[in-house]
Amino acid sequence: MTVQHIDTPVIVARDRDNVVVGEEIVRHRRATRLIHWSVAFTFIIALFSGMPIWSPLFGWMAYFVGGLEFARLIHPYAGVVFFIAAVVQFFHWLGDMHLREDQKGWLSGKALKYMRWERVEESGKYNGGQILYFWAVSLGAIGFLLSGIPMWFPLTFPSVLFREICILIHDITFILFFVGLVAHIYLGTAAEPGTFRAMTRGTVTRRWARFHHPGWYKEVTGEKK
Ligand code: HEM
Repeated sequence: MTVQHIDTPVIVARDRDNVVVGEEIVRHRRATRLIHWSVAFTFIIALFSGMPIWSPLFGWMAYFVGGLEFARLIHPYAGVVFFIAAVVQFFHWLGDMHLREDQKGWLSGKALKYMRWERVEESGKYNGGQILYFWAVSLGAIGFLLSGIPMWFPLTFPSVLFREICILIHDITFILFFVGLVAHIYLGTAAEPGTFRAMTRGTVTRRWARFHHPGWYKEVTGEKK
């Protein structure tokens, strides 16, 4: 007796993406999801160990990472691991993250259109807003690292003024990064149902793909409309 092997969407999503499997489309293969969640996890550790150092207002967050002293100790290491994960993510996604001609204008009209829930028809796997977010995250990771190192090694960087400037850059980077992240999490979960599963199960429905990324939908299915 021969046993017929049928690949389910979850099995296909282990090592392939941009393929249709029945009624689902694989959007992110397992490697992509692992990299993304490594970035998210290490960022959260850096966040929970960094906020209580920043202000006593967030002192309660230190309980989640073993107390204030331990938070101080692990924060720079968590930051470096976050940076390494962000670098891996950068090169993993770089090929998909170039703005095409029809994706320009996100910093002006298009973002507003998107916020009013109007449909933004574009080519490509990611829309212009996502691509800009990718670049902002990558720049932010560099900003965190470069401004964090002088604070970590004050003896190597003895100028107080220089270190104060670094603190300012670290804080501004954080505030911008955090605002972007709140929007990102909102869009990836509550605002656009069906998106979160792309980063857990790896797949989306055809309907989701046709609505949110019509250009990508046509590319992967070969359908003309
Ligand atoms: C912790 C909660 C998070 C959730 C729920 C979340 C959710 C998601 C989802 C669902 C996608 C896929 C979107 C798509 O396929 O169209 C995605 C992509 C992405 N995520 Fe996250 N993410 C989180 C944290 C983070 C963090 C901490 C970073 C960076 C520091 C990050 C950076 C990115 C980037 C650059 C992309 C690709 C572009 C985009 O889709 O915006 N994410 N995320």
